[in-house]
Formats: sequence, C-alpha cells, structure tokens
Amino acid sequence: MKDAFGAPQSLLILGGTSEIALATARRLIARRTRTVYLAGRPSPALDAAAEHLRSLGADAHAVSFDALDTGSHEEVLGKLFWGYGGHSPERGAEGDIDMVLVAFGVLGDQARDEREPLSAVQVAQVNYTGAVSASLVCANALRRQGHGSLVVLSSVAGERARRGNFIYGSSKAGLDAFAQGLGDSLHGSGVHVMVVRPGFVRTKMTAGLPEAPLATTPEAVAEAIETGLRRHAEMVWVPGALRFVMSALRHVPRALFRRLPV
Ligand SMILES: NC(=O)c1ccc[n+]([C@@H]2O[C@H](COP(=O)([O-])OP(=O)(O)OC[C@H]3O[C@@H](n4cnc5c(N)ncnc54)[C@H](OP(=O)(O)O)[C@@H]3O)[C@@H](O)[C@H]2O)c1
Repeated sequence: MKDAFGAPQSLLILGGTSEIALATARRLIARRTRTVYLAGRPSPALDAAAEHLRSLGADAHAVSFDALDTGSHEEVLGKLFWGYGGHSPERGAEGDIDMVLVAFGVLGDQARDEREPLSAVQVAQVNYTGAVSASLVCANALRRQGHGSLVVLSSVAGERARRGNFIYGSSKAGLDAFAQGLGDSLHGSGVHVMVVRPGFVRTKMTAGLPEAPLATTPEAVAEAIETGLRRHAEMVWVPGALRFVMSALRHVPRALFRRLPV
C-alpha cells in the first residue's frame, strides 16, 4: 500500500530500461519502494537494470513485455496483479501493485517516418495503441484492487504538434487525451491517474539531438513524479515553467506558429 505521502511500496514499470523510469525507481526505492517489476523487451540492458535496482535493496524482476504485442498484454501484465483470473500472482499473495509507470515510447525519425509510412505507424503503435492497451489492462487491475496510481509519461510535444516532430507529437497527443479520460473514468474508484508532460529530457532517446530550451534530466522528472504523487496531482509539467510556455504557444496563430523555429 502507498503511505500517507503517496510513496508506493510496489512499482510496475512498463518500459523497464527507460532512463526516466529508472531514475524514478531509484528515487522511490530510496524512500519506501521494495518490489519493482521492470516490464520490457528482453535484453541485457533490462537484466542489468533489474540487477542495479536489486543492488539498491529492491526486490526487482524483469518481465518480458512488448508494447507492440497488444494481444499478450492481458496475460503478461494482468498476472502481475493479485487475484488475476482467480489465481495467485507470480510473487505470491503478499501485496498489490501500488504504482504503474507507463514509460515506454519511441521518438522515431521524423524525416524517415514521413517518407516511410510503415515507420510512422510503428511510432504510433508503440506510443499510442500499445499504451492504450497496456494502460487499460493495468487500470482494470488497479480498479479491482481499489487503489493505486497509474502514471503516464506523455510529453509537451503532444500539446501542440510541431511540423518538425508531428508524428511523435500526435502519438503523444492521443496518449495524453486517453490518459486524461482514463483518469476521469477512474475518478472515485480509488485509482489515481497522473499525466506527466516533460519537455526535452537528456536520455538515450534524445542523445545527439540539439537541446531544446528548458532541457532537463531524468532525475528532475523523477522528483516531479514523486512530488506529484504526494500532492495527488493529475497533471505534472517538467520543468513547471513549461506549463506557461506551452499555454502561450497553444494560442499562437497557426500561420505564425508554422514559421516559428520550433
Ligand atoms: N527524453 C525526453 O526528452 C522525453 C520527453 C518527454 C517525454 N518522454 C517520454 O518519456 C518516456 C520515457 O522516455 P526516456 O527518455 O526514458 O526514453 P528511453 O530511455 O529511450 O526509454 C524508452 C523505453 O521505451 C521502451 N520501448 C520502446 N519500444 C518498446 C516496445 N515495443 N515494447 C516495450 N518497450 C519499448 C524501450 O525499451 P528497449 O530497451 O527495449 O528499447 C525503453 O525502455 C517515453 O514515453 C518518452 O516518449 C521523453
């Protein structure tokens, strides 16, 4: 169970090698989190991430999960929750999952994806369809538990699609709207949905790209997530100033917006 400060005892990360997710896990393990499931595509990096969290004192497990294989999500993710299908979960019956962090995603390559529609579809399927499927499986399980937080990594890129990044941006816009609606649907169920909108974060996803203004770190996103959990926030911007920047950008007339160097 979460404590009075919203700190979870158990955490399920979807996208187990995400640098933002792992910074969040480290921060939460330093507080109260003891059990961590890292769901992701099997790889040495996923195993190394689980090993690293174990070295910090967590009971961490790698779980095979592919966002694109939506047909497997119910089975792969559902069984991590207590009482799934009338069976005990793999870890035994000692507890529920207090927090799910939806952290998988791909940035794609805008120029290539515009030329190759199948590549663009892959971005859309990982970031939107895959997230819809996995989030619903987890949300339904959390609803059955009657408590927990579903934290979804959206992006400022979804707030207003930019011409240089509109394939990724539109997938995040869809995810963002979905997650907000899911939060409304779960209101009153005991399950809390928090949408996180980071700007440019220095991770392997953005390696080699020119930094955007207000660029930040995975650790800063992790801190904002922890603060958001404590406050039971529904929307978190990282850094917070982006809320005002994007609010202004949203209202820039389109003819002007398309000429901005964004
Ligand atoms: N970095 C930024 O500037 C930024 C800004 C705003 C929002 N975000 C969002 O924050 C989230 C985490 O980003 P990050 O910066 O931590 O990126 P990251 O370190 O590159 O992590 C991305 C994660 O997505 C996983 N993934 C990709 N395709 C997958 C699939 N088909 N099935 C399962 N997992 C898959 C990767 O797993 P593999 O190891 O298998 O590749 C990896 O764990 C993403 O949703 C991203 O869009 C990032």
